[in-house]
Amino acid sequence: MAFPLTAAIKFATKKEVPVHKQSIWYYMGGICMLFVVLQLVTGLLLMVHYVPSFDGAYQSVMAINNKIPFGWLIRSMHSWGANLFIATLVIHMFSTYFMKAYRSPRELTWFSGLGLIGLAMVFGFTGYLLPMDEMAFFASKVGVDVAGEAPFIGELVANFVRGGEEIGQGTINRFFLIHVCALPAALMGALGLHLLLIQIHGISEPEYFKKLSIKKYEKFFPDFIMNDMFVWGGVTLLFLAIVCLSGSCSYWY
Ligand code: HEM
Repeated sequence: MAFPLTAAIKFATKKEVPVHKQSIWYYMGGICMLFVVLQLVTGLLLMVHYVPSFDGAYQSVMAINNKIPFGWLIRSMHSWGANLFIATLVIHMFSTYFMKAYRSPRELTWFSGLGLIGLAMVFGFTGYLLPMDEMAFFASKVGVDVAGEAPFIGELVANFVRGGEEIGQGTINRFFLIHVCALPAALMGALGLHLLLIQIHGISEPEYFKKLSIKKYEKFFPDFIMNDMFVWGGVTLLFLAIVCLSGSCSYWY
């Protein structure tokens, strides 16, 4: 077996996770990861049929909803996934905050997390314009106009993001490029750093747990990862139930 893989397996089998009454929150980061994967897969599938043009975007999205087999499902998964991803990120942020996991030596883990939540929001903003329906048009116009009101650099930023005086082809080009190229690349970098730091520092322990004379730990591999997989399965089923029971995107128009 190649050296790095052997080292990784050795590391994973040695790694331990504390077990206590707040351990449930340790699954939130894993759920965030599940949503990253779901968003990447459904986003790639949407790109097969989506046309990033001012005149063609809306028609292509309508075709995905109503003509392409299971297109409605993929689009609805991507749209629900975006919202639930942000919701899970907020839960993960607050749970790590209340467990004081941001304290030394995990400051950089926390800041890389803040970077990730910032990226998730820009994903949401740029993705919202892409269907080019009335809502998307006006929501993006308001967003860009608000940025334009910022002192000194506002106008410059707004013109750059809009790609001209008005929302149009230039805006779609920019938003599409940011959404499908720049942001995924930045996300992979920030996520790689986040996960690396978690491996370096290990999982934090709550104050009361540190003082216990007898502490319980479980092996990350295979025990914790098995629980993680169980949680991923449950969340995926719940997610699919929400997506299917909420009706297809074609009902929105
Ligand atoms: C794409 C987004 C994110 C992913 C995939 C992710 C993933 C993870 C994973 C897998 C863990 C280890 C297990 C756990 O504690 O849940 C973790 C830990 C951590 N995350 Fe995130 N995270 C993300 C965003 C954030 C955000 C927004 C913050 C806060 C601003 C944050 C702060 C932390 C901290 C401080 C830890 C260490 C927890 C500890 O040691 O107890 N993460 N993250």
